[in-house]
Amino acid sequence: MAVSTVAPSVRAPLPVLGLDVTVPLASGGEVTYAALDYAASAPALQRVWDDVAAYAPYYGSVHRGAGHLSQLSTDLFENARRTVAEFLDCRTGDQVLFTRSTTDSLNLLATALPDGCEVFVFETEHHASLLPWRNARVTCLEAPRSHRAAVETLERALAGRDPHGPALVCVTGASNVTGELWPVRELAAVAHAHGARIVLDAAQLAPHRPVSVRELDVDWVAFSGHKLYAPFGSGVLAGRTDWLAEAEPYLAGGGASRKVARREDGEWTWSGTRASPGTRPARPTSSAPTPSRPPARRSPPRGSTRCGPVRSG
Ligand SMILES: Cc1ncc(COP(=O)(O)O)c(C=O)c1O
Repeated sequence: MAVSTVAPSVRAPLPVLGLDVTVPLASGGEVTYAALDYAASAPALQRVWDDVAAYAPYYGSVHRGAGHLSQLSTDLFENARRTVAEFLDCRTGDQVLFTRSTTDSLNLLATALPDGCEVFVFETEHHASLLPWRNARVTCLEAPRSHRAAVETLERALAGRDPHGPALVCVTGASNVTGELWPVRELAAVAHAHGARIVLDAAQLAPHRPVSVRELDVDWVAFSGHKLYAPFGSGVLAGRTDWLAEAEPYLAGGGASRKVARREDGEWTWSGTRASPGTRPARPTSSAPTPSRPPARRSPPRGSTRCGPVRSG
């Protein structure tokens, strides 16, 4: 079978890595690889890769050392937080946390749910949005047939809950199955009107549309760097600090504790690194540095998982 390939300049309006990679064919021979699944993982942008390569010799321990390169890397890491906060149009006081992926971000938030928190998700969500809420009461909402039905379904589900208890709505911004955009702003308004918070799974939205935390009025946003042309596993959870600040650290370790003590006497601190302790993989987000550049988790009772549909009427 003859296999035709498209010239790299036609295939990739943005210069990305791997355009010349050839792969073996089952029928024998080789062909230039055509990556068709950017929604799963996009190749790294050449520009980003060049910045990473230029930075690599200056790598030092982030938040964990006093040496020059450690300070340089820490500065770059903190600058990256600011860059992401601008990218997401975050509110003053919002916190950008680096994770491994959208899945990791949502699991991080799941460990910070207040006691007795109810979670509402549509059954059409990606598993990363459906599954992390293991210690909460989860209500799965029936797949809506329209934007209006989605809003009405959520309205009905939230109207039936105790308005004084904590609740979280988790919605995707763009479906990984249909590509459909969801009415996030309207869903956020309904959530807030009923005293619930909302987290936006922007894994598929962020690569295609601007995401404004402020305009959408969502409490958190989660997305994956590897779907946004960043190399390898990186993710973000951005938004409000209070639930995360009051919870025990996601990972216990250096950076999560103010002092070393027996676990029972442990004293947790809130500092940005608290929710992501340990040595961080520093990554530049803009131009590469030059050598002269200065450089209490609560344990919610296991709730029942209610996964019956709330009908769209
Ligand atoms: C809508 C949506 N949410 C979440 C995820 C999970 O992303 P990750 O695998 O980077 O955690 C995906 C992955 O394809 C997705 O499409």
